[in-house]
Amino acid sequence: MTKTVYIKTVGCQMNVLDSEMVIADLKRHGYRVVETPAEADLLLYNTCSIREQAEEKTYSALGKLRDTKARHPDKKIGVLGCMAQKDQEVIFRRAPFVDMVVGPGQLHALPQLITNIDSGEGRQMAVSLSRTDGKQAVVARSHETFDPLRDPSQRPTPFQAYLRIQIGCDKFCTYCVVPNTRGPEQGRSPAEILAEARTLADQGCREITLLGQTVNSYRHRSDDGDTDLAALLEQLHEIDGIQRLKFVTNYPKDMTERLLTTVRDLPKCSPYLHVPAQSGSDEVLKRMKRGYTIAQYMEMFERIESILPEAAVSSDFIVGFCGETDEDFQKSVKLIERCRFKNSFIFQYSVRGGTKAAERLEDDVPREVKAARNNELLAVQDRISKEDNEKLIGSTVEVLVEGPSKKADTSDPDAAVVQMTGRTHCDRIVVFDGNRRQAGQMLDIHVDQVSSHTLIGRVRTVELVSIGL
Ligand code: SAH
Ligand code: SF4
Ligand code: F3S
Repeated sequence: MTKTVYIKTVGCQMNVLDSEMVIADLKRHGYRVVETPAEADLLLYNTCSIREQAEEKTYSALGKLRDTKARHPDKKIGVLGCMAQKDQEVIFRRAPFVDMVVGPGQLHALPQLITNIDSGEGRQMAVSLSRTDGKQAVVARSHETFDPLRDPSQRPTPFQAYLRIQIGCDKFCTYCVVPNTRGPEQGRSPAEILAEARTLADQGCREITLLGQTVNSYRHRSDDGDTDLAALLEQLHEIDGIQRLKFVTNYPKDMTERLLTTVRDLPKCSPYLHVPAQSGSDEVLKRMKRGYTIAQYMEMFERIESILPEAAVSSDFIVGFCGETDEDFQKSVKLIERCRFKNSFIFQYSVRGGTKAAERLEDDVPREVKAARNNELLAVQDRISKEDNEKLIGSTVEVLVEGPSKKADTSDPDAAVVQMTGRTHCDRIVVFDGNRRQAGQMLDIHVDQVSSHTLIGRVRTVELVSIGL
């Protein structure tokens, strides 16, 4: 009899990809995916630890399963992902009805852990070594990348896919848990990446987004020489069927001229660069241990502008980091105004156990100040995004159509006109009236209206001129 699995995923694109892989693997072990916990024999929570709020949400979702487990002791509950690696047995303590805790570097073990539980071995934990548990190479080996055969039905759309090229992170920004939860930085081999990209192309995938925490720091060393991201893009560019290549997230210091000219010279590479600045103040950046000054960030930004003048650049900011004064904060406002990012993700600083900032710096910006700075920065960014989008009114943009928009009325599957959504080469979201058959196509859309986050347009049709016969 087939078993059923429900999975809830939070966190970054890496987690979305991990969940896709886990489900593909479980399907090969006879599982079928269901949409609600009530229908499921196996309930999986793929978790994130980046901010306290993300963890608290997961613990509260788990808390709600206490009764479920009491009523249905046969149901198995698994906590996967970064919180599993970070909290380990704390999860069993806070939620004793959880059956499995599996870190992101141990996802391959899941089917075996289920078997162990079925054979009466009790609850199971599979986590990787901590950064201080041994030599870098030994710790790295315990964080395994998990990229089994792909299952197109698990992707948000069949023609778009994430492809992992790097795991872990060695940057150790003082606020961040990722170097602990995902372990040492490791680049996957180009041969594996290319094989996976070819499989994706054969499955009809047109757009690949390469993933890494600092994706442009990618490096793979072998006896035949080193491969960097630029070299990898050149090889991926050769694959027929792939029309767009994107890569996230970039580290400012590794945004080299070589990478930028490669993106310029390869038409399939999207001129979209997500390069988080985190703060506009040198003092804050130093405390964050980001490894660059604002002058260096601006140097990088100007390099982008001169090599890729059409590029859309986006950023992340943390507000209310330890010791951030009003003056420091205003420097972040100024940076957004100078760079005019396409968009910025803005976060309020959240102390994370095990990080340098938690150990050595005081979380001294009051909650209300963090919230006010968050709103102010968001308002500045939204105004700039809207002004820059307005410049696109009247132009035509090429859009890879993803499917019906969030607001589309999908109640009638045969409806002739449905609001569809897609993205431009620069990652701008576009909505237009169309039909479901357009999903997966590249269409020219004439932009009529804009908001700060969306372009609203219509499909450009060839204009028929009446010759008045
Ligand atoms: N690897 C990526 C980002 C990973 S986390 C990079 O380095 O750019 C995504 C974003 O979460 C970060 O860019 C940062 O802005 C934010 N973030 C990370 N740790 C945080 C914390 N402790 N509190 C608030 N925001 C945080
Ligand atoms: Fe975290 Fe910094 Fe690594 Fe990004 S680069 S994952 S913010 S430690
Ligand atoms: Fe969260 Fe882990 Fe991603 S902490 S942001 S799921 S790498």
